[in-house]
Amino acid sequence: GERSRRTDMRIPTPAGPNAYGGQRQPMREDLARAAQLAQAAEDHARERQHPKGKLTARERLDLLFDSGTFQEIGRFAGGNINKGVPGAAVITGFGEVWGRKVAVYAQDFSVQGGSMGVAEGNKICHLMDMALEMKVPIVAIVDSGGARIQEGVAALTQYGRIFRKTCQASGFVPQISLILGPCAGGAVYCPALTDFIIMTKENSYMFVTGPDVVKAATGEKISMEDLGGGTVHNSVSGVAHYLGEDEPDAIDYARTVLAYLPSSSDEQPPVYAYSSGHAEDVAARRIGTIVPVNDRQPYDVVDVIHCIADYGEFVQVQELYAQSAVVGFACLAGHPVGIVANQPCVNAGSLDVNSSEKVARFVRMCDAFNLPVVTLVDVPGYKPGSDQEHAGIIRRGAKVIYAYGNAQVPMVTVILRKAFGGAYIVMGSKAIGADLNYAWPHSQIAVLGAQGAVNIIHRKELRRAREDGEEAAEKLRAKLVADYEATTVNANLSQEIGQIDAMIDPEQTRDVLINSLATLRTKKRQRLTGKNHGNQPM
Ligand code: HXC
Repeated sequence: GERSRRTDMRIPTPAGPNAYGGQRQPMREDLARAAQLAQAAEDHARERQHPKGKLTARERLDLLFDSGTFQEIGRFAGGNINKGVPGAAVITGFGEVWGRKVAVYAQDFSVQGGSMGVAEGNKICHLMDMALEMKVPIVAIVDSGGARIQEGVAALTQYGRIFRKTCQASGFVPQISLILGPCAGGAVYCPALTDFIIMTKENSYMFVTGPDVVKAATGEKISMEDLGGGTVHNSVSGVAHYLGEDEPDAIDYARTVLAYLPSSSDEQPPVYAYSSGHAEDVAARRIGTIVPVNDRQPYDVVDVIHCIADYGEFVQVQELYAQSAVVGFACLAGHPVGIVANQPCVNAGSLDVNSSEKVARFVRMCDAFNLPVVTLVDVPGYKPGSDQEHAGIIRRGAKVIYAYGNAQVPMVTVILRKAFGGAYIVMGSKAIGADLNYAWPHSQIAVLGAQGAVNIIHRKELRRAREDGEEAAEKLRAKLVADYEATTVNANLSQEIGQIDAMIDPEQTRDVLINSLATLRTKKRQRLTGKNHGNQPM
């Protein structure tokens, strides 16, 4: 609320009657004309956007950047000052977020529906080139009717140029897309190629083919909202990463994400001043009571994360999607980390096609931007069923392995309760590449649960026992299960083969993580030579 909403703040030349705070200074005529043109354009934008419950592109920039830091590039590019045409349907420039430079392009729906023409493509590509040279993140604010129909294929090709630049920037500078209006047709792939897509509950749409085309082609009647609204893309398709209550909330999330990330892959994430206090001690004592010893009893792993993170702060990514896994940002002793966790209160925390992709993409993003990965494991295995197999759990589950297996950032894993089979190995085990692994007491670590194991390895004995009656067989089974549980379903073997470095008291978890990450801070990346790039399962 303290940030300035003065629209004239952003225009480097005097813009409007208040630009000099009431001081009268002689202005050259062309300066005045440009300022007037800019002011008229903003008045027009307000008239067009506000009745729809939308902010103007410039008002959005005011919310995105630290007060008074926006520097515009090419204000009148694509316009005609003599004829009173103020310029292209996109605003480009740089500003500061938490004191660090960020590039932005913001489509302006009040100018020809924010559509993409040659002038817009040129402005955006120029901005992206500058951002890559300066090594700063790129934020795109999308509000557009798509390719400018009047410019035909010349407009379409602009998307191709932007796609290619976005691919080049991917993993080098963070890229965030805010969808604050329509984004339709092939234009959706501009945000789709970026790291984060942020939508809002209303006025935010993404679809490759809109409701009219859908109806004409298939007969299906569906609203814009149900086809590609913010809620759908956050909870059903997994296209989006955050659902903003409104525009300010969405923009605030973009600022928050940027706070955890370095400006480019050449830098480490920012470090924040932190001094631990009484609250951490209280949280540490609480952490052991959250996880029930009974392995069938669910709990919310987010409560555990709150007890581990600085100030209890945890910023989830894709919170509404594939909820059997939880991913997000936190700080540990002032250092940003990515946290990945199984969520036992949703499908017992099992891995499925969607949660696999959620985890994989987040780990890839962390590795690209030098964020250490902390993994909290409580996983019974993969979700069984033909729906999962046919949806490609083999191909899509492989992405988790590819992400952890290729990651070179510090990785520390804690097994909170159970870790079974393949799911144990892929969730940041040492074998797959994590640096340090810990387990809480009573952890169950095994190839599979005792029931399943006994049925397989003691099949013959059980069959023989059944000849003496069902009761005898059940008695034997119970004994074998108890034996197996006591001897095998624990962390002993994992410790003996060096896969678990230590068993830790839950109350120590936060300190152990902080110390482990401090130890690993100087871990060096090894750039493998000899190959063009990996062939990631997709
Ligand atoms: C030129 C456009 C435009 C476009 C909107 N306008 N889209 N001008 N090219 N693509 C103009 C309108 O003519 C109008 O001008 C002003 O912007 C506001 O538009 P409205 O329709 O009044 O706004 P609204 O009612 O809010 O509807 C928004 C909309 C609709 C649903 C997005 O404008 C629409 O359907 N636009 C066309 C969408 C489209 O088919 N685009 C091409 C898609 S192909 P005036 O002067 O009247 O104010 C594409 C592919 C990209 O984008 C390929 C990448 C590979």
